[in-house]
Amino acid sequence: MNVKTIAAALAALCAPLVASVVARAADPATIARGKYLVTLASCNDCHTPGYFLGKPDTDRYLGGSDVGFELPGLGVFLGPNLTPDRQTGLGNWTDAQIIAAIQTGARPDGRMLAPIMPYRAFTNLTPQDAQAIVAFLRSIPPVQHKVEGPFGPNEKANVYTMKVVRPPNVPEK
Ligand code: HEC
Repeated sequence: MNVKTIAAALAALCAPLVASVVARAADPATIARGKYLVTLASCNDCHTPGYFLGKPDTDRYLGGSDVGFELPGLGVFLGPNLTPDRQTGLGNWTDAQIIAAIQTGARPDGRMLAPIMPYRAFTNLTPQDAQAIVAFLRSIPPVQHKVEGPFGPNEKANVYTMKVVRPPNVPEK
């Protein structure tokens, strides 16, 4: 193989990669659609710190919540970091892994997300809209922040928690 053949082979190998990166970065309409959907689906509420305390930290937009949801028998769950940070966010997830989590609740490690994450509603997204959400999430600034948990039903969760409390005189449902 001479240098020319090697160069041609390399170019052929890299072309799809370059094309996909360029397509992702250069499609403002898809990113705008994703932003519209993320805003409308209230991802911000459960995935931005401070939101449930009345002071959303806009500098850490979608950087992971600081308030957990307690689900009886399941545990306490905080909305994780959705920014492109590689250690604490979705930076190392593939598009397909992010879409699977959003639409089926399955994480790459096989754990099912707690149903407070509205994946049952997001199942109805069209493939284009799911892809647009991913494109938008990849376009926002990375935030380094690992959320606490998840905590099992018998674990002590040392975080702000929202829970549904049954009053003493009302029968259990
Ligand atoms: C009502 C609150 C709520 C809303 C609204 C919500 N989420 Fe979530 N989401 C959660 C919680 C809580 C978890 C973590 C559940 C668990 O760990 O079992 C989660 C998990 C995830 C995960 C998996 C991340 C990981 O590291 O495991 C992704 C991806 C995700 N949400 C994306 C979204 C997107 C995108 C939207 C908007 C389209 C959204 N979520 C809206 C609460 C919410």
